[in-house]
Amino acid sequence: MQPRSNPLCTPLFVAAWLMLAVAQARAAVHPNAAAIASQGNGRGALACAACHGTDGGGQAAAGFPRLAGLNAGYLQRRLDDIASGERGAAVMKPIAARLSEDERKALAAYYSKMSVAAAPAPTASAAGNARGEWLATRGDWSRQVPGCVQCHGPRGVGVGAYFPPLAGQPAQYLAGQMRAFKESGRRNDPLGMMRHIASSLDDKDIDAVTAWFAAQPVEPERNEP
Ligand code: HEC
Ligand code: HEC
Repeated sequence: MQPRSNPLCTPLFVAAWLMLAVAQARAAVHPNAAAIASQGNGRGALACAACHGTDGGGQAAAGFPRLAGLNAGYLQRRLDDIASGERGAAVMKPIAARLSEDERKALAAYYSKMSVAAAPAPTASAAGNARGEWLATRGDWSRQVPGCVQCHGPRGVGVGAYFPPLAGQPAQYLAGQMRAFKESGRRNDPLGMMRHIASSLDDKDIDAVTAWFAAQPVEPERNEP
């Protein structure tokens, strides 16, 4: 009588099993940030490019922020805070929450390496916005508000993983974030720095200072010498 072959040892089965194991190992190790950015991750996180632009430059008219060239550590913390709900963000929350930790890390690295040269030139103008410029560069010490550039860098270019760039971000986005700090929708700022500043400014000042930053040209962040 012929010995019956074990179906688990047929060459076809072994080949299929090997292919599956290799595919799983790849998926676990390297989330494909470029593919998620352009197509989404297939688990409910929509394509980032649909809102943040294919060049990561954002969309000023819609208030979608630029991601290109932002510090990787900052981007990753923001995605983590939005996913956990620590930073209220109605549109971004369901997207961030459907990204795995590895995917958030890979996307942060991907956007940080993207060139800011592609960012559109600011459409707004800073001319005639003396109050905005004053607040940005000197602050208002009668209300214990330091000049924004002391933390956010010259013209708001951003400093490292903790002080995000303001230059060239959509005015609507920046003003929205100030109001979120003021009204406590956003509580993820270290030492409550931004909650103090935003609560000390009235609506007119918030609009003036954010319009001034929105009109500043986008520059690549420099590394510490
Ligand atoms: C449907 C539009 C939309 C899509 C798609 C989208 N975003 Fe966003 N994103 C927004 C909006 C709106 C905000 C501003 C959130 C807020 O109000 O705080 C934002 C904010 C962010 C921020 C915070 C930026 C900062 O300066 O603090 C990051 C990081 C981000 N998005 C990354 C991504 C990534 C990565 C993807 C793709 C997986 C993505 N977004 C997909 C609309 C979108
Ligand atoms: C003492 C330091 C400090 C000063 C001064 C300061 N900021 Fe900030 N700002 C921060 C920090 C830190 C964050 C990031 C908070 C976080 O991690 O979410 C921030 C975040 C922001 C954000 C959110 C940006 C984004 O993409 O998420 C806006 C808008 C902002 N600041 C505007 C201003 C304006 C306008 C002024 C001046 C009136 C100002 N800041 C002065 C420390 C400062």
